[in-house]
Amino acid sequence: MEEIQRDELIKWGIPEEEIEEEERAKVEIWKYIFGFVEMAVVKCAIELGIADVIATHGRPMTLLELSSALDCDPQNLHRIMRFLVNRAIFKEILIRNDAVPTAYYAQTPISRRLMRTGENSMAAFILLESSPPMLAPWHGLSARVMARGTSAFEAAHGEDIWKYAEANPGHARLIDEAMACDARVAVPAIIDGCSDVFDGVRTLVDVGGGNGTALRMLVKGCPWISKGINFDLPHVASVAEKCEGIEHVGGLEVFGRKCTASRKDFVVHFEDEWCSLDNAIKEIQHGGNNVKEEVFECISPIGVSNSLELSELFIVWWVLHDWADDECIHILKKCRAAIPKDIGKVIIAEAVIGNKEQQKEDNKLKDVGLVLDMVMMAHTTKGKERTLDEWAYVIREAGFSRHTVRSIAAVQSVIEAFPA
Ligand SMILES: C[S@@+](CC[C@H](N)C(=O)[O-])C[C@H]1O[C@@H](n2cnc3c(N)ncnc32)[C@H](O)[C@@H]1O
Repeated sequence: MEEIQRDELIKWGIPEEEIEEEERAKVEIWKYIFGFVEMAVVKCAIELGIADVIATHGRPMTLLELSSALDCDPQNLHRIMRFLVNRAIFKEILIRNDAVPTAYYAQTPISRRLMRTGENSMAAFILLESSPPMLAPWHGLSARVMARGTSAFEAAHGEDIWKYAEANPGHARLIDEAMACDARVAVPAIIDGCSDVFDGVRTLVDVGGGNGTALRMLVKGCPWISKGINFDLPHVASVAEKCEGIEHVGGLEVFGRKCTASRKDFVVHFEDEWCSLDNAIKEIQHGGNNVKEEVFECISPIGVSNSLELSELFIVWWVLHDWADDECIHILKKCRAAIPKDIGKVIIAEAVIGNKEQQKEDNKLKDVGLVLDMVMMAHTTKGKERTLDEWAYVIREAGFSRHTVRSIAAVQSVIEAFPA
């Protein structure tokens, strides 16, 4: 703003902060007009493999070196790199060769996260969130807020995200890989920040554990854990990487859906004990009662129930935010039923939405919780991120007598829920 105009406004009694806010808004609004461009260019960088090529080269690269390694048009690549350097995603450094300065592109901590592999890679997560199936529901967000029709994801695809993934194996793999990106960051944070939650645990069950990355890291990081069970949907568990000490079990019933497997493969928690589904049904029929599925407190595939009886710990990691309160209570009740009352516990790893003040004070990652809440609105049917009070409600309603919440250096906090 021209100084003269600014002076005029001040003379008219307009507060200086208001004038500055107005100035900022003129610039900031462009962020919202073209907000998607950053995501799109970063996705392009991942697809081209720019960070991977520089990493393989082992030192910074000139535009011509990079374009020939990528076999792409140097002029267009120059424009992409200019944008990425402007956003500090890559660095441009000038090196004098024979007194002539030549520009080289170099990596930054952010660009390393765009590599396809490596423990800090977030590439799959970016590719998932920028994929057409995940972007489509965002167009239905306002309709969801107006509570018209079904969820934004179902409005876009005709089914919920898990059924869509089951029918589209490529997308299912992308979801698993994206979740694994987060697990590679969050598991070390939980081990560093509060490894004591795993003290004395011999077996644990990861409910909705995806491709098992988190569980593999936990079992490796806490060698006293002798067995981990990854419980997920059948199409996820069946393709999860095999690993010693870890069993991948596919099932639907933990989340209250009907089982499609054969009856002989299941056991039920009936009158405080695990027994075969067939025997339980016989006993009920013997007593002259009709068999209804609701009589079973918990129904599980055989392999899981055997281990469930031994498992002191259930982890529900970045799962409950996908579900409504009543569904979370149902899932947590099933976990509670399967742990020993005296030494068992359930760990919930989820974002905790703070109030306005906490949001400002807390570490910057906590702001991601608010973004995730919008993601839940777009991608799940009734999922949401929860405040401390909302977590306390679902945990209490699921029958746990107490819980603790701890912050770690990750988007998620660690909530421990105790049955007694
Ligand atoms: C957001 S992902 C979290 C994955 C993993 N816990 C992590 O943080 O890396 C949610 C997981 O819940 C699983 N899931 C969804 N519905 C399920 C059901 N009915 N039974 C078991 N798992 C389910 C999905 O397949 C997916 O792996």
